[in-house]
Amino acid sequence: VSLRPYNTLAVDVRARFFVAVETLEQLRAALAWAKQREIAVFLLGGGSNLVLAKDLDVLVIHLQLRGINVLSEDDEFARVEVQAGENWHAFVQWSLAQGYSGLENLSLIPGSIGAAPVQNIGAYGVEVKDHLESVLVYDRYAQQTQRLSEKECQFAYRDSLFKRESGRRVILSIIFKLPKQATLHLDYGDLRGYLNKQGITEPTPQAVSRAVCEVRAAKLPDPAQLANTGSFFKNPVVSAEHAQKLKEQYPHIVSFVQDDGQVKLAAGWLIDQAGWKGLRQGDAAVHAQQALVLVNHGNASGQQILQLAAQIQADIKQRYGVELEIEPNIIA
Ligand code: EPU
Repeated sequence: VSLRPYNTLAVDVRARFFVAVETLEQLRAALAWAKQREIAVFLLGGGSNLVLAKDLDVLVIHLQLRGINVLSEDDEFARVEVQAGENWHAFVQWSLAQGYSGLENLSLIPGSIGAAPVQNIGAYGVEVKDHLESVLVYDRYAQQTQRLSEKECQFAYRDSLFKRESGRRVILSIIFKLPKQATLHLDYGDLRGYLNKQGITEPTPQAVSRAVCEVRAAKLPDPAQLANTGSFFKNPVVSAEHAQKLKEQYPHIVSFVQDDGQVKLAAGWLIDQAGWKGLRQGDAAVHAQQALVLVNHGNASGQQILQLAAQIQADIKQRYGVELEIEPNIIA
């Protein structure tokens, strides 16, 4: 089976076996089938945060559990359970239409519900952990389901227990706790300024969602039109001294002081300044509108994308003394 339709980087690798599962019973059966034959398993969701760099001699299990269920609702909050195979953006739009807020800044992020906690997706000052109550997983070691609280998921910037112990837990569903009185986050990425320019001074969550969609669409390529995995690198965090030295050399460097005094740098800015933006090697390229995103113009392999990434990492290390960490999961 070609996995090209199942990864947003549109890399053409093959899987030996492939099965789609819609229920926990089907998942258990697929896992048991693979175990009996001593075949390794790879769990696939929306495929939007993946670099597939070789053919997979495995059983690929595509998670297609569906359903959205309001568990409880009062004047303040709605608690909503969503199955892992639902589309992230469609769920965000559904929640806003019900009058539930909180997820508006996370509009238009590609991928499935089940993938969202793995890298703790985040945008415009909000992360999925901020509105997540718990995650139901199937623990492949214990061979049983388990409910993990937000704390137990050990969320951090683009990181979680699921990413650190990859392959152990299959995310089945998430319970979100969504406020009905919105607290908007408009300062990151100047959403407020963007809305003000449209004459919107007291936006609704839906107006914020529309603004986020517009801002994202202007910078980030739509995977349906130009294959990509979103940000290819994490924004690096350096010591205050290191940041200060860089600031003296590069007065316009984009940086954000963290709670612990360390400084987060905009990797897109570093890569852009180093002259990589829009650069193309065969079909592997740095996106012309956002240097943090690598794109596949057609037939790039995962290896070619990774080779380009390695050159960027080496150059950024040499110029700024900064290590860039790759953000998507690499399967090599
Ligand atoms: N910049 C440049 N040149 C570029 C790209 C960025 O100079 O080519 C500068 C921008 O002008 C801006 C700064 O770098 O001053 C930051 O850029 P931006 O606001 O676009 O955000 P980002 O740091 O590049 C992060 C997330 C995105 C998220 C946005 C908005 C990471 C790795 N990426 O990007 O998440 O949408 O902030 O919150 O944290 C993703 O994870 O896949 C993703 C798209």
